[in-house]
Amino acid sequence: MSQQFDVVVIGAGPGGYIAAIRAAQLGLSVACIDEWKNAAGGPAPGGTCTNVGCIPSKALLQSSEHFEHAAHGFDEHGIGMDNLRLDLGKMLERKNKIVKQNNDGILFLFKKNKVTFFHGRGSFAGRSEDAYAIKVSGDKPAELIAKQVIIATGSNPRELPGAPFDEKRILSNTGALAIDAVPENLGVIGAGVIGLEMGSVWRRVGAKVTVLEAMPAFLAAVDEQIAKEAQKLLVKQGLDIKLGVKLGKISADDSGVSVEYENAKGEAQSQRFDRLIISIGRVPNTIGLDAEAVGLALDERGFVKVDDDCKTNLPGVWAVGDVVRGPMLAHKAEEEGVAVAERIAGQHGHVNFNTIPWVIYTSPEIAWVGKTEQQLKAEGVEYKAGTFPFMANGRARALGDTSGMVKFLADAKTDEILGVHMVGPMVSELIAEAVVAMEFRAAAEDIARICHAHPSLSEATKEAALAVDKRTLNF
Ligand code: FAD
Ligand code: NAI
Repeated sequence: MSQQFDVVVIGAGPGGYIAAIRAAQLGLSVACIDEWKNAAGGPAPGGTCTNVGCIPSKALLQSSEHFEHAAHGFDEHGIGMDNLRLDLGKMLERKNKIVKQNNDGILFLFKKNKVTFFHGRGSFAGRSEDAYAIKVSGDKPAELIAKQVIIATGSNPRELPGAPFDEKRILSNTGALAIDAVPENLGVIGAGVIGLEMGSVWRRVGAKVTVLEAMPAFLAAVDEQIAKEAQKLLVKQGLDIKLGVKLGKISADDSGVSVEYENAKGEAQSQRFDRLIISIGRVPNTIGLDAEAVGLALDERGFVKVDDDCKTNLPGVWAVGDVVRGPMLAHKAEEEGVAVAERIAGQHGHVNFNTIPWVIYTSPEIAWVGKTEQQLKAEGVEYKAGTFPFMANGRARALGDTSGMVKFLADAKTDEILGVHMVGPMVSELIAEAVVAMEFRAAAEDIARICHAHPSLSEATKEAALAVDKRTLNF
């Protein structure tokens, strides 16, 4: 017998589970279907983010950073560390525990908000005049009927032709988060977000890491000045980043992976790695959705086609998160999920794409919001720039981490903040102030006039805002 709901959400990643909770808060009856299985075969809601993305990567980044501090950073504080050792098994176990806590947390939130959860695959089974039939296949098959459907089926790692993931030698993000012995030589294809974060994790615990990147510029989407500074710092730490490479044959065997490539000078190279992480972007996931059963339109790259409001070509069917256009970020998926739930309930949900922050959790961290200097130049916008180095910040000196800077870009005439770019300690937290300021269309002077606690890293934000008007106080 089919079960009727106001809203059925397919996928319980950050886009789907947040949409389900918000819709339930607004008084709608909601079902959420997710097929992710934990090691025991049980439900593991939270999607890529919780299971093989944001959460486990940040757990390993934290652990490996502690290890690196203990190995190289404590000495200057007068703390000696003899017989330092790494228990990789325990480090991975801690990460798995954190993932499980998040999975369980989402199941609890579903109960608390009266969202009915179905563990299995959801696919379109048919359409009547004003409703959709969704089939749940899995251990407990079911059929659901709803007038409103939210597709939040996420994304999968992009494979490199000729080098399929085996998760033993050739690793996607899934394998990269679960290597059971520190590789002596680790190769990474793609110097993007995953390549730099996972490359940092394994370098910190002892691997020699080589990153092969096709683009001639490092982090081309990041403000050039910030990207150059980040590159300098990451290379100094020991990441061997080769830009402008052209990949050739990749062959894996029982003991490792051989990679042939041309370097930026066009010279033929060959390198042998114990493991190879391939992180060259992600592709939208509509596998198993049976989109064709109801005529759901996809674009030429496989994304579900949506308008600015996340409406698909089918009445009552919406799509959010990685499976639609826009940045593949958990908080972007969440914002879209909330906005769609509110629209279904007759409210006016809104997502401001100009103020979505980005963070790369290397050390130092890289964070930004708004336009880069190269974008403003290309658009012919007249702007003023102000920078402030963490070297001149008292809290950064006390922390023992003075790398990087904060940079403001403001409109030359109105002083409105157009972009804020940071590389340095804890900038994942500092960027929030810039997001708030931009959301309220603040001027650089507004930040410059606000009292910031002393000593704090946030004073670098205030000083960079002062620098726009060429009147820093501490530099
Ligand atoms: P997903 O999280 O992919 O969830 C989709 C869910 O739908 C999955 O659980 C899947 O099993 C389920 N599903 C798919 N099809 C069906 C079906 N037919 N039936 C039932 N269930 C189905 N973003 C950040 O903002 N910050 C970070 O620090 C960050 N770190 C990352 C690190 C890594 C290594 C990776 C890979 C990604 C990271 N991301 C990060 C990106 C982030 O994980 C994604 O942007 C986010 O998970 C997208 O959310 P989503 O809900 O759209 O999809
Ligand atoms: P990415 O798009 O960040 O980087 C991919 C890199 O691979 C690019 O620099 C690209 O030029 C390069 N590349 C592509 N093809 C190549 C080839 N054939 N040879 C060599 N280099 C090649 O993608 P990534 O790192 O896979 O991450 C996917 C997405 O996941 C990110 O874009 C981001 O949206 C999300 N993510 C977000 C994180 C965060 O917010 N901190 C962390 C990790 C992932």
